[in-house]
Amino acid sequence: MRFETNKEVLDWYERQPRVLTDEFIGNINWRDVKNHPLDARFVPVLLYMRDVEALTDVYYKELLRTPTGKDPIISKFMERWNVEEVTHGELINRFLNEAGIETDEKWQTQVKKQVSRFYTINSYILTTLTNLVGKQFTATHMTFGAIHEMSTGQGYRRLMKLADHPVLTEILTGIMREESAHTRFYANIAQLELGKSPFAQKVARFVVNKFWSPVGQGAKPKKQTDYTIATLFNGKEGLDWIERNVSQKIRAFPGFDGLTKITDTISKIQNRKFA
Ligand SMILES: [Fe+2]
Ligand SMILES: [Fe+2]
Repeated sequence: MRFETNKEVLDWYERQPRVLTDEFIGNINWRDVKNHPLDARFVPVLLYMRDVEALTDVYYKELLRTPTGKDPIISKFMERWNVEEVTHGELINRFLNEAGIETDEKWQTQVKKQVSRFYTINSYILTTLTNLVGKQFTATHMTFGAIHEMSTGQGYRRLMKLADHPVLTEILTGIMREESAHTRFYANIAQLELGKSPFAQKVARFVVNKFWSPVGQGAKPKKQTDYTIATLFNGKEGLDWIERNVSQKIRAFPGFDGLTKITDTISKIQNRKFA
């Protein structure tokens, strides 16, 4: 389906029923988690993903200060989006607990507290800058959102494949369905907004080239981001995966022809050594 206006994209999104309902969550075979092995190398990955999901709330509140967050269509989407991301974090945390990995009861508050001062100051500056550029910056925000949602969805897909744990697969299948609805929202709004203005295209491309990094980096220590990427997208296969499922899709956005930033960034992380 092709959308002509932002409102049509929102209407489509609002027609999508929630996947992770209480019923869905109640039907997950939680008691079976312990009956299947979970490779220890995925534990830091799951913790990272859990935390990034929870940090959506911080990002959401920041965006509300900008023209993007004040846009009635986008803010309507973001209200539900934020709630859905919180559920994703909670489900991952519960999975870890059922697998015998204890976590702090107040992990959500802890994660938010640990967001570095550097990140807070930086994002404050970025938000302020955004306010100066104004409405034209919405295309940039939406493009960032599309890349983040797309790469998160692919991260879960890789994790599901590599961890090969039946209950985790069940949980991640539900999460991924919501991520793909998020991707679709962001990607469509981004393309509509970019299509409106060559200036918006230039700004978005510049900002992606200059500032894009994998989701969570900055708010979480870079070492953890790198570990997650290197574990999920290892080797040539991992790089091809990103190229095919993220980079190529973003290159179809107005003004993004030939973009190599995403694949290049992942390749650089792969080439680093991990202790
Ligand atoms: Fe999520
Ligand atoms: Fe999402």
